[in-house]
Amino acid sequence: MKNTFGQSLQMTVFGESHGPYIGIVLDGLAPGIEVDDNFIKEKLAQRRPSGAISTARVEADEYIVASGVFNGKTTGTPLCILIPNTNTRSGDYDKTGRIARPGHADYTAMCKYHGFEDYRGGGHFSGRVTAALVAGGAIAIKALSDKGIEIGTHISRLSDISDRDFSDMSEDIKDLNKKTFPVLDPDAANAMEEAIKEAAKDADSVGGILETAITGLPAGLGEPWFDSAESILSHVLFSVPGIKGVEFGAGFDGVCARGSEFNDSFRNEGGSIITSTNNNGGINGGITNGMPIIVKCAVKPTPSIYKKQESINLNTLENSDLEIEGRHDPAIIHRARVVVDSVCALALYDMLAARFGTDFFMK
Ligand SMILES: Cc1cc2nc3c(=O)[nH]c(=O)nc-3n(C[C@H](O)[C@H](O)[C@H](O)COP(=O)(O)O)c2cc1C
Repeated sequence: MKNTFGQSLQMTVFGESHGPYIGIVLDGLAPGIEVDDNFIKEKLAQRRPSGAISTARVEADEYIVASGVFNGKTTGTPLCILIPNTNTRSGDYDKTGRIARPGHADYTAMCKYHGFEDYRGGGHFSGRVTAALVAGGAIAIKALSDKGIEIGTHISRLSDISDRDFSDMSEDIKDLNKKTFPVLDPDAANAMEEAIKEAAKDADSVGGILETAITGLPAGLGEPWFDSAESILSHVLFSVPGIKGVEFGAGFDGVCARGSEFNDSFRNEGGSIITSTNNNGGINGGITNGMPIIVKCAVKPTPSIYKKQESINLNTLENSDLEIEGRHDPAIIHRARVVVDSVCALALYDMLAARFGTDFFMK
């Protein structure tokens, strides 16, 4: 489907960067789930730009719950969240709006929508729309957490700077979820922030890798072929603008090991079946095995950079240099973290409801 995803829980996103609203509709939520405004605000704050490492376009994200909630709890009918866009400066796109930004969706949007697309600020393709995913995702993150399922993401690499690996996963996840710049090692965090500022000074941008750990999932989620746990998670992750690669467990580098090194041995520890390593990232045959899901996302450098670039004019198709105006992130990776958490939570909610039924999430 076009802007809708999911089976037991369906999400639809809508809106444009400079339109009146963006939003999300969640259809299939269990009745009786707590909708915690403070938690939604906390998650939206993790996506909101801040300081020299982010765009100067700061939106208050004062959302409206238009349906599906009564007395602070879900009713079970479609839940719609609207987020007004209040800090638009569409004039920034008057001069350059028809020159395609290399790496952005301006050219492909025109190919698909024949010039009728709202191109201001990237329109429907803008990272702005991810605020709606975060608002809806916060409800799913909380519902999963109430079932003992926790999600945490860190910037494992930015340019050539690496964070430390996860160690005590449960403590690391708690720590990351308190941070606005989600890096485990404080020295690496400082170096990464400096690298973003350097790129901004050079009128340029940087990318990196997000690594997500999901703990507490039962074994047995996912379908063997087209709706494997990997297929569903990568589907939603590739829907996040700017994500160009997804890998599970030991991923691309891991396959250089021999089978004897790569295989995760099974053990029975006090009645629980675990594996002694987790190179398969918690999934075998498309089905969760009860170990943490480990998934990495490659987040590209922000396409809108202030350096002069070669491009084309979308009205005339003539070659035309581009010097952008508007407000943009020198890196999107730290803001994309909570978007990744959100889409994973929504997809896992869907998989859990498919296996155990809608009422699984009722307390
Ligand atoms: C939270 C977030 C913020 C973003 N901010 C910007 C931005 O300020 N400028 C920009 O050019 N791209 C930004 N992007 C990325 C573009 O939306 C994305 O690169 C573009 O839609 C093309 O999609 P693709 O990179 O998946 O091919 C952002 C993405 C996210 C997730």
